[in-house]
Amino acid sequence: MQKREELYRGKAKTVYFTDDSEKLILHFRNDTSAFDGEKIEQLERKGEVNNKFNHFIMTKLEEAGIATQVESLLSDTESVVKKLDMIPVECVVRNVAAGSLVRRLGVEEGMALEPPVFEFFLKNDALHDPMVNDYHIASFGWATADQVEKMKALTFEVNAVLKALFDAAGMILVDYKLEFGVDANGNIVLGDEFTPDGCRLWDKETRKKMDKDRFRQGLGSVVETYIEVAERLGLKL
Ligand code: C5P
Repeated sequence: MQKREELYRGKAKTVYFTDDSEKLILHFRNDTSAFDGEKIEQLERKGEVNNKFNHFIMTKLEEAGIATQVESLLSDTESVVKKLDMIPVECVVRNVAAGSLVRRLGVEEGMALEPPVFEFFLKNDALHDPMVNDYHIASFGWATADQVEKMKALTFEVNAVLKALFDAAGMILVDYKLEFGVDANGNIVLGDEFTPDGCRLWDKETRKKMDKDRFRQGLGSVVETYIEVAERLGLKL
């Protein structure tokens, strides 16, 4: 697999074309950003930890029958993935109130959400990723109504698999963000990443934060805690 020119540089990952027109390379960098890119730091080993973590989780999801973009690990910090036409929305599921939900609705952090809350956000840095609903997505043509339903259903399927996985390892999956794309056959496939950068995880007993909130809130030991999450899941880094 030959790496070719850069396709896209995000806040923490760079995507490259390859010599295979159906495959891309995701490079997980050490860059860590929060608050719309206002706070950016390089965290030693984070690229490697997230690359391997993402591969581990996506493999678990594939084993559960959920189609993902991930093909294989290429190096410590790179993975080969299927090329998708990405849908420009973020799908968020919340099992427990935290983050922007708490700020927006004034509810107490830690409140269990039953049923879980589903939210869509538009990926648009200039507009600070505003919340949108099914109608905005269909009207503006970001996805079809069928694709919207499929993204919701898949996001909840992921919830069932990952809630159980983290629970068995002593953690609460508080919330997370997923992104989907359309493959060459028109199927909706889970893309982007699932790492502690894009979810909230709390220790079941102590409620210790084990995700990017450690970086956002300056709690320290960011990568060390990501490694602890991985090790609890049985992934040796
Ligand atoms: O900030 P908020 O509470 O809306 O985030 C919900 C979840 O989605 C969190 O786990 C957060 O890490 C994730 N998220 C993300 N990327 C964004 C926005 C939110 O990974 N751009």
